[in-house]
Amino acid sequence: MRRPLVAGNWKMFGSRAENAKLVDELVQASFGGGVDVVVCPPCAYLWEVGRQLKDSRIGLGAQDVCAEAGPGAFTGEVSAAMLKDVGCGYAIVGHSERRALYREDDALVARKFVAAQAQGLVPILCVGETLDEREKGVTSAVVARQLDAVLGLAGVAAFARAIVAYEPVWAIGTGKNATPDQAQDVHAFVRGRIADRDATIGAGLRVLYGGSVKAANAAELFAMADVDGGLVGGASLKSEEFVRICAAAA
Ligand code: 13P
Repeated sequence: MRRPLVAGNWKMFGSRAENAKLVDELVQASFGGGVDVVVCPPCAYLWEVGRQLKDSRIGLGAQDVCAEAGPGAFTGEVSAAMLKDVGCGYAIVGHSERRALYREDDALVARKFVAAQAQGLVPILCVGETLDEREKGVTSAVVARQLDAVLGLAGVAAFARAIVAYEPVWAIGTGKNATPDQAQDVHAFVRGRIADRDATIGAGLRVLYGGSVKAANAAELFAMADVDGGLVGGASLKSEEFVRICAAAA
């Protein structure tokens, strides 16, 4: 019932030449009809990658968005309207690297979520605990807090037009993915938190897993009942690997 989705978060990697080759290989690949595929290049490359994807079924997403609608004096920021204007359909908000390295708190992430949706972008809201938080047994409390900030500002209805990505911080870029059971537990918790407020929206919400997803572990993660695809970092920079991950979700 929920259509799987795999998004590639390229983070701050790539060049015009590398992107052109990667996107060419992705466009040539056949993903079949059973999966939505999205790539999220660095902001500087969105327009050019978007042009290359124009006649394909692959969607375009941004890695972040400004919380302010603008236009206005916000040096260095990129508004949701601008992302829409260059062809984005999605925007990641609240990635753990933004939260940790750029001190984005739950309230700011919630405002980014709302700003993205106000322009018709589908926010991909990232949630997830650090290793320390997992070891202290507060994973659910952390994820609940991250979700509730957005629920409080945007309301549950907004989750009918959004995606949540569970990305345990300890699994990102470490090669150590969550086990399928660990992912399933948190995904079910996320869905339950939304379903408590609206059962239909909860049932329809796509919850992606992110954190060291590879072709070798994708199928077992995506086989879990509440895992609806992936948000893939490092492995999304290699076309063959990424295509195999997408195929595992289809
Ligand atoms: P890796 O797949 O490189 O662990 O990154 C996950 C991630 O942060 C995707 O947003």
